[in-house]
Amino acid sequence: MGKVPVSDFVDELNRETMARAEAVAHYARRDDLSPAEAAALDAVAESIQGTVIVDLGVGGGRTVPGLARFGGDYLGVDYTPEMIVVASRRFPGVRFRHGDARDLSFVKSGTVGLVFFSCCGLGMVGHDDRLRVLQEVQRVLAPGGYFAFSTHNLRSPDCRALFRLPEFEFAWNPARLAVRLGRYVKETAIRATNRLRFARRGERGDGYEVVNDACHDYRTMLYYVTIEAQRAQLEASGFDANPLVFDEAGARTDGFGTESSLFVVAQKS
Ligand SMILES: C[S@@+](CC[C@H](N)C(=O)[O-])C[C@H]1O[C@@H](n2cnc3c(N)ncnc32)[C@H](O)[C@@H]1O
Repeated sequence: MGKVPVSDFVDELNRETMARAEAVAHYARRDDLSPAEAAALDAVAESIQGTVIVDLGVGGGRTVPGLARFGGDYLGVDYTPEMIVVASRRFPGVRFRHGDARDLSFVKSGTVGLVFFSCCGLGMVGHDDRLRVLQEVQRVLAPGGYFAFSTHNLRSPDCRALFRLPEFEFAWNPARLAVRLGRYVKETAIRATNRLRFARRGERGDGYEVVNDACHDYRTMLYYVTIEAQRAQLEASGFDANPLVFDEAGARTDGFGTESSLFVVAQKS
């Protein structure tokens, strides 16, 4: 791909984390849509049937079956080469490419029916880069095309949690219990170390914050935004100011609640 330079600390840390073997394996396990993703796709199904679909941050390919069923021209894109290798192995015959959402120069302007960016992948870049992604997505969409994405919600208590311990599963078998305890202590130490290193590296602006997140043992910096700020960003980038918003269970919401993430479907104006 035309390489986008690593823009800042947020970008650098998240890229490193996504390229780790355990992250690649983690995102290559599933092939089902979340209730919010399924509801969002149902809402636009008729319009996107047979169109070009670009699946940004495709990871290990979880969303491939759910999007390929629309029968159009599907392309999965990820900036982590290791993810593209795994996705291509899991779904032979499906088109994937190494690329960055901030520079979609390999996609012609005005040709895409749906751009999908799931699992809060859009939140892995800082504020200026998020706006670059919105502009690139808007450019490649056909008139009336849709951008469907999830985003962490700034109203959720998740972004203010001080520290989350890993989960512990008790075992009666003493050998198994010892292994689990050892793993728990190691993971707790890794989390605490990362938290101390990264907690102060965030950024904050009008209606958004980039915080050191518990995800991947505090090895991520993730973008949280209010629905009002998200709407304003979309409108400024050439999308309809009133997107459809879904909660995690797939129900329509105004986005003013405290759910951890929101799924947004915005139409190009
Ligand atoms: C949280 S994972 C989700 C993977 C997959 N969509 C899923 O739901 O299982 C986010 C993915 O987005 C990719 N990603 C993050 N920022 C990106 C960007 N600017 N351009 C392309 N891919 C990106 C990461 O490499 C990672 O594979």
